[in-house]
Amino acid sequence: MLAHFQNELNRLKEKGLYRTLKKVTSPVDTTVTINGREVILFSSNNYLGLANHPALKKAAVSVLQNYGSGAGASRLISGNLEIHEELEQRIAAFKKCSAAIIFSTGYMANIGAITSLAGKNDLILSDQLNHASIIDGCRLSTAETKIYPHKDLAALEKILRQALSRHEKGGYNNIFFITDGIFSMDGDITPLPDLLKIADRYNAFVILDDAHATGVIGKNGGGTAEYFDLADNEHLIQIGTFSKAMGSLGGYVAGHELIIEFLRNRARSFIYSTALPPSVSASSIAAINILEKDKALLQSLQHNIDRFKKGITEIGYGSVEIETPIIPIIIGDADLTMEFADTLLKKGIYAPGIRPPTVPENQSRIRVSLMSSHTGDQIDTALSVFEEEGKRLEII
Ligand SMILES: Cc1ncc(COP(=O)(O)O)c(C=O)c1O
Repeated sequence: MLAHFQNELNRLKEKGLYRTLKKVTSPVDTTVTINGREVILFSSNNYLGLANHPALKKAAVSVLQNYGSGAGASRLISGNLEIHEELEQRIAAFKKCSAAIIFSTGYMANIGAITSLAGKNDLILSDQLNHASIIDGCRLSTAETKIYPHKDLAALEKILRQALSRHEKGGYNNIFFITDGIFSMDGDITPLPDLLKIADRYNAFVILDDAHATGVIGKNGGGTAEYFDLADNEHLIQIGTFSKAMGSLGGYVAGHELIIEFLRNRARSFIYSTALPPSVSASSIAAINILEKDKALLQSLQHNIDRFKKGITEIGYGSVEIETPIIPIIIGDADLTMEFADTLLKKGIYAPGIRPPTVPENQSRIRVSLMSSHTGDQIDTALSVFEEEGKRLEII
């Protein structure tokens, strides 16, 4: 019986798809010690450097000492601590929504929201490049799910019309468009205003996964809706996580209070899972405090994005259209990409190679992610390694 799993693992190894873990033995910062070596990190979602920020640590330690390490039960039993409700109010206000509900992770927020909101006789239209947790949520829901080509809203509308014309018995109960805000492997931004316009025409909901956008884009770091200056919209359901720019852990859904009340009653990953530890919730609140008070982190992140983009273009990698900290350097060939990533790591730069099945064939890439806390020297060091090794491998 075990032989089956051994064979599967062997198959992954043969196909070059076997995954291994790298051990980090230092605090999570712009430099980390990986497998015993110090490297500059260009692969973290800790965009604002908050994961090791004194204010987040102080908040966590104080709440840990006063309230203990675990919530002890799910929210609906006896795990609903005051700090959870405070965090929900704070994130709702930060996202300019009337209400919010928190989950243990962003993954669980997506699974819980999608599977409870969309069911039998509903239609989901999901962007081709959406995150795995959205894909899993769609699969687990019993809704009819159709994938539209990446950000192609004309195609989305065509697929929608075809589905509506084929559908019998008076139409779907509900229609959902689901999209990442910032796409996690490509760093581009979803065309939210146009998506909402189509949603209005067809009376559809838009579920926006703002995991990589919250704390990153928009004048206050409010995410994709703020970036496009959109007012609160009862058909917009925003999902996110405290685990990336917010430097903590936990997922959330923010939107109309009726939707939130519904999720509290129906989302299985909320109902049947222990509430977040209070100390973790305290870190998330501390992150919101920082974002609300101080724009310096957002400004230095933007400064670093501009510096890296300018540099990488100047050394011959072509122009970069991306406006976010996720910058894909497309290499194409999977083996060459992995060789390049290994070389970068040997030279002290950790920017991972991403290859199929995570990205399409011939779209293998180095995925660089920038942090507000990267120094100019760290970025310039990375650029000079990209130049030297890119030339050696004849990539540029
Ligand atoms: C777009 C997107 N959504 C959701 C998640 C899941 O968030 P979490 O890590 O909090 O589970 C991630 C990343 O992990 C993500 O990239």
